[in-house]
Amino acid sequence: MYDALPGVMHHLKGLYREVLECNDFMHSLVKEEVESHKERWEEGDAPRDFIDFYLDQIAKTKNDLTSTFNEDNLVQTAADLLLGGMDTVATTLCWGFCYLLNHPDVQENSYKEINAVLGPSRTITYNDRIKLPYTNAVLHEILRFSNTTGVGPLRTCSQDISVLGFPIPKGTLVLPNNHSVLYDPDFWETPRKFNPRHFLDSEDNFVSNEAFIPFSTGRRTCVGESLAQMELFIVFTSLVRGFRFQLPEGVEEVSLDYVLGGTRHPLPFEIHAIPR
Ligand code: HEM
Repeated sequence: MYDALPGVMHHLKGLYREVLECNDFMHSLVKEEVESHKERWEEGDAPRDFIDFYLDQIAKTKNDLTSTFNEDNLVQTAADLLLGGMDTVATTLCWGFCYLLNHPDVQENSYKEINAVLGPSRTITYNDRIKLPYTNAVLHEILRFSNTTGVGPLRTCSQDISVLGFPIPKGTLVLPNNHSVLYDPDFWETPRKFNPRHFLDSEDNFVSNEAFIPFSTGRRTCVGESLAQMELFIVFTSLVRGFRFQLPEGVEEVSLDYVLGGTRHPLPFEIHAIPR
């Protein structure tokens, strides 16, 4: 909608305006970052990060009139990555700690596994997930059960297609309901319960499930999936190894009600982190 009606959107009042102002603010921050990269970077330098790689690509394609590499697209792409990658991962982690508080047995099993395999201080890497099937299962269940994004973003069909015999004409707006898959009783033993066993076989090996689609599926699946999985694994295992998380005295459990914004957030909750 913003792309289709950019002029009109800027004249709308209320929440839309606020959203657009936030968008402009984020773009201005990214622009500053691009400028400071340009000052520090010279053609031929080894790129250090995404912005450097993109600047390098702009330089390499400057004589190609069909190239889409330009500074406006760099700012938009970097802003897309920030927008797609911050709230989603942080909110999923918050949900993860809600579940640990409500399921102390899961927290204890995960801690014991991490401590037995990695010890109290060894640096944790993403490859370690293979040696930590239980913790890996807990993280997959956190992603499934929290379903932070709720539904996927609106997409428009670019050609006539048929899905399971239903014709969907070109131009149809499609809102993928990932929730119905993540909670599908045909694929999950206890879809409405937090249950890491959804990702473990009878011998406690990690098993994946084709209905695990918190990052959506298909050609427009989340571009940040592997980064998100890596961040979640390293932050989660480091925290569970370092602290015991507890509810404040007198509180029985954390509410699993949510606030719906761009993502599904837990309500504010109090958590005690006791160093191990
Ligand atoms: C727990 C973390 C995350 C979840 C649950 C998540 C989920 C999703 C979902 C469901 C989509 C929609 C895909 C579709 O339309 O079919 C999406 C798209 C996207 N995500 Fe993520 N995401 C996460 C983390 C990240 C990270 C870390 C980044 C970037 C660093 C990122 C960047 C994006 C972008 C740019 C898109 C749009 C892709 C496109 O339009 O082709 N996401 N994500």
